[in-house]
Amino acid sequence: MENKAQQSEQFATLNIPGKDPIELPIIEGTMGPEVIDIRALGKQGYFTYDPGFVSTASCSSRITFIDGAKGVLLYRGYPIDQLATKTDYLQVCYLLLKGELPNKAEYKNFEYQVKHHTLIHEQITSLFKAFRRDSHPMAVMCGIAGALSAFYHDNLDIYDPEHREKTAIRLISKIPTLAAMSYKYSIGHPFVYPRNELSYAANFLHMMFSTPCEEYKVNPVIERAMDRIFILHADHEQNASTSSVRLAGSSGANPYACIAAGIASLWGPAHGGANEACLRMLEQIGTIDRIPEFIARAKDKNDPFRLSGFGHRVYKAYDPRAVVMRDTCHEVLAELNIQDHPILDVATELEHIALSDEYFIQRNLYPNVDFYSGIILNAIGIPTNMFTVIFALARTIGWISHWNEMQEMPESRIGRPRQIYIGKPLRQVKAMHHR
Ligand code: SDX
Repeated sequence: MENKAQQSEQFATLNIPGKDPIELPIIEGTMGPEVIDIRALGKQGYFTYDPGFVSTASCSSRITFIDGAKGVLLYRGYPIDQLATKTDYLQVCYLLLKGELPNKAEYKNFEYQVKHHTLIHEQITSLFKAFRRDSHPMAVMCGIAGALSAFYHDNLDIYDPEHREKTAIRLISKIPTLAAMSYKYSIGHPFVYPRNELSYAANFLHMMFSTPCEEYKVNPVIERAMDRIFILHADHEQNASTSSVRLAGSSGANPYACIAAGIASLWGPAHGGANEACLRMLEQIGTIDRIPEFIARAKDKNDPFRLSGFGHRVYKAYDPRAVVMRDTCHEVLAELNIQDHPILDVATELEHIALSDEYFIQRNLYPNVDFYSGIILNAIGIPTNMFTVIFALARTIGWISHWNEMQEMPESRIGRPRQIYIGKPLRQVKAMHHR
C-alpha cells in the first residue's frame, strides 16, 4: 500500500483580527517537517504570500527526500552516496520511475527497452540545421526537446500508464543522442549514431567524441565517472526545473513539451546553469592569490556577483552530491594523469577560505552539486557550454518521473497561483484627446 500524507490530530489556529479563528490541519509525510494544510484559506478569501516558494510544499511525492539541515538526499529512500557507488544510472532511472531497484531480469528488460529506443527520427536531424552554428547547445536542446512533441502527439494518451512508461523510455533513450548531436552540430562534426552494445554512459561518450575517421575507445574510469555524474544529477525534489515540468504538465500538456519547459528553467545560472558559470568563475579567478578579491565581491551587496557552485535553497550543510563529486574529481584527474590542475587548486582553496569565512558560515553557504562537476567535465574534454546539457540529460529521468507521478496523484489539479495586486486602482478609459 503506497504511503499517503496523514493528517495529525493537531491543528494550527490562524487568528485574524475581527475574524473567527481558522483551524488549519497539520499533515505529515513519511519523513521531514510537518506541513500546515492551507487549502481552506482560499475559500475564506485569503491567499498566503511566498515569493520563490521558500515555505511552500507544492505537492506530495514519493520520489525524492532531502533533509537540507543534515545534507541528506534519498531517491525512493536510498541514500545518494550508496546509489552513486553501488548501482548505475539505468538502475537509478528504473528506481525513480517505478519506485524499486530492478532485479536482474527487470534490469535486463529495462536496459533492452532503453537501448532500442536510442535512435531519433531522421527528420529531426534536419531540425538542427535551423539553428545558427554558434547557438548555445541549451538553446538547441530547448528547441529539439519541444519538437519531439510534434513527433509523439496524436496517439499519445497521457492518462494511459503504458503510454506514460513508453514516453519515459523514449526520453531516457533519446536525450543522450540529442545531447551529443547538439555538441556535434556546434563543432561541425557529423552526427554519430548510438551503439547498442555500449553501456548508457559509454554510448553517450562515444556519440560525443568518436568520429568516422578512427576507432574511439571509451576509458572505463571516465565511463564510470560519467555514469556517476548522471546519477548525482538525476533528481532533486521540487527544484525550479522540476516544478516547471509539473506546472506545465498540470494543464495536461504534451510531456515532451513539458520536458522542454524543464530544460528552459534549468538553463539559468541560479540553477543548472551554475555548473557552466562556476567553471567560468574559477577560470576568471585564475590563481589562488585572486580568491580574496572574489570573496569580497561575493559579500558586497552592491555587487551582483555570487560564488557559483555555492549555496542552496535547501541544503544548509554540505550538498551530499558535492562530496561524491569531489571524490570523483580526484579519481578522474588521477586517471588522466592531471597532477597540478590549476582550476582544482583554485576550487579547493576557494572552498577552504569560504567555509572558514563568517559571511558564508552565518548563511550556511556550502559547495553544491555544481561546484566540482565542471572540473570533471572539463577534464573529460566536455566543453563548458555543454555542462548544463549534461545536467539536463541526467535530470530528464527526474522530470519525467515527477510528471508521471503527478498524473497518478488524485490531489493533482492545474497549478494556478494567485498574487498580491499592487497596480493601479480601478479607473476609466479617457478618449485619446483627453489623455
Ligand atoms: C542547483 O533547488 C535545487 O535543488 C537545485 C539543484 C538541483 O539539483 O535541482 O540543487 C541544482 O540549482 C544548485 C544551485 C546552483 N546555483 C548556484 O550555485 C548559484 C549560486 N547560488 C545562489 O545564487 C543561491 O545560493 C541559490 C540560488 C542557490 C539559492 O538562493 P536562495 O535560496 O534564494 O538564497 P538567497 O539568495 O536568499 O541567499 C541567502 C543569503 C543572501 O544574503 P543575505 O541577503 O542574507 O545577506 O546568502 C547569500 C545571499 O546574498 N548567498 C550568496 C550565495 N548564495 C546565497 N552569497 C554569495 N555567493 C553565493 N553563492
